[in-house]
Amino acid sequence: MKKFLLGTNWKMNKTLAEATKYTDELITVIEKHAQLEIFIIPSYTHLWKIKELIDTKKSALKLGAQNMHYEDAGQFTGEISPVMLKEIGLDIIELGHCERRQYFNETDETVNLKTLAALKHGFIPLICIGEKAEDKSYNVSKEMLAKQLKIALTNVSRDAIGKFWIAYEPVWAIGVNGIPAETPYVKEIHDFLRSVLVDLYGTAGKDVPLLFGGSVNINNASDYAQLENVDGLFIGRSAWEPDLFDEIMVAVGKVVK
Ligand code: PGA
Repeated sequence: MKKFLLGTNWKMNKTLAEATKYTDELITVIEKHAQLEIFIIPSYTHLWKIKELIDTKKSALKLGAQNMHYEDAGQFTGEISPVMLKEIGLDIIELGHCERRQYFNETDETVNLKTLAALKHGFIPLICIGEKAEDKSYNVSKEMLAKQLKIALTNVSRDAIGKFWIAYEPVWAIGVNGIPAETPYVKEIHDFLRSVLVDLYGTAGKDVPLLFGGSVNINNASDYAQLENVDGLFIGRSAWEPDLFDEIMVAVGKVVK
């Protein structure tokens, strides 16, 4: 059974004590939701401890990092390499989040190098793409998204299908000032992204998991989750408390097959 993907990026939030408490509670919560694949993406400093907790409890909770360098080692002060993250035993590496693009000079080219490195090391790259409000206002969202997607997937072969995930997160929908996207718009863009993937990979492109993110909350999660080309949801603020995340899991669990 293909599980519906549901996860949260914590961004730069939570102390270690908060992170372990959250994870402990979440591990209990997710046992009720076998049809969902739940994942969390904490800060680097919490990863070892959280992985230990997940393993001790033999939980199915998946764990990821928020970024990664593409080189195995080198003169890159402040960076973390795939080899280091591999030692922890992570499942997922989030790449190209709009905050990384906006504040830390992440580009489509570096997202591509990181995607290739993540696949080489056996991680699932969770590649984030999204158009800005300005792109939308000039009606060039699709062009921008196709460009981001095609560059990120350059030299990613058909064999990798199923081993990478794409998150569509419109920049204007993300964070405290974000405006939730209308469901028909999400449908239109996800259908478009699917067509780009099919252009790139043939029918295998239908098997690439496509997640939606940006102001996902208890009021809109099940509407988005019902769309044909939405295979998962990627959530920030609304999943930062285990009980609120649980409410979203319940709502989504009712509508996904
Ligand atoms: P948000 O964040 O749900 O708080 O809008 C989403 C994201 O940044 O992925």
